[in-house]
Amino acid sequence: SDKPLTVLSVVDSTNTYLKLKQSAHRNGAACLAEAQTAGRGRQGRKWQSPFGASLYLSMYWTFSGGYQAIGGLSLMIGVAVVEALNRLGVEGLQLKWPNDIYLDGKKLGGVLVEVEGQIHDQSHCIVGVGLNIRLPDLVREEIDQPYTDLAQHVTRLPDRNLLAAAVLDELQENLIRFEHEGLAAFLPRWEALNLFKARKIKMLCGSNHFEGVCLGVNKDGALLVRLPDGVKAFYGGEVSVRSA
Ligand code: ATP
Ligand code: BTN
Repeated sequence: SDKPLTVLSVVDSTNTYLKLKQSAHRNGAACLAEAQTAGRGRQGRKWQSPFGASLYLSMYWTFSGGYQAIGGLSLMIGVAVVEALNRLGVEGLQLKWPNDIYLDGKKLGGVLVEVEGQIHDQSHCIVGVGLNIRLPDLVREEIDQPYTDLAQHVTRLPDRNLLAAAVLDELQENLIRFEHEGLAAFLPRWEALNLFKARKIKMLCGSNHFEGVCLGVNKDGALLVRLPDGVKAFYGGEVSVRSA
């Protein structure tokens, strides 16, 4: 296609690269790197990004509408990544609200959606995906939660270029669909992949904790939790979920 795709050896972060590169501010423009020196997760957390061991990619997209138009965008991206992996024969994936990709109960990858600016009622978004293929031992010690990589689960690793192409394809296709139909088109699929479905969870919001049962998500992508005093909707932002 005519969408610019930039392939880099090393970059600070593919998200930052797209953010700063004006000429890539077109729907579907993408950046792919072999390594990141400052890969990011949510809230400034670090994303381990060693050379050649994973997939690090980002795509640019502008939506008309403000925040309400992009609620749940990271959930849809998770679905797109799972579909790309399914296409290549990797099964058993799950999604942890709001932005993690899980395999065998451990973190395999993550999604980072950043909104560049909301001008004239448009939302300029950079969606980033990190997916572990084969992490070197050195990096493993740096990750402070259960994680995994594809190498531990599949006997034949998919070719990294094919994997990148599949993810980019699914992203573009699903972004177009999201633009027209919103999150609703992806909700049944997301619910089927929900790691915490009907399980007891703990919500961490700053110094506040809530314990309840995970019911699913609403049409804005908020997580619905049954608390002792009723059902509460939690929005992305500063909230983290753990199993209780
Ligand atoms: P939340 O539930 O709030 O998303 P989180 O701990 O998953 O919590 P994120 O910001 O989504 O936080 O992801 C960053 C975290 O992911 C890091 O703090 C680290 O624990 C973990 N991490 C970092 N690099 C990797 C990697 N390559 N693979 C798996 N996990 C990683
Ligand atoms: C998370 O779990 O918090 C999300 C991790 C997202 C990592 C990807 S790797 C490509 C893109 N560039 C970044 O700096 N982060 C995302």
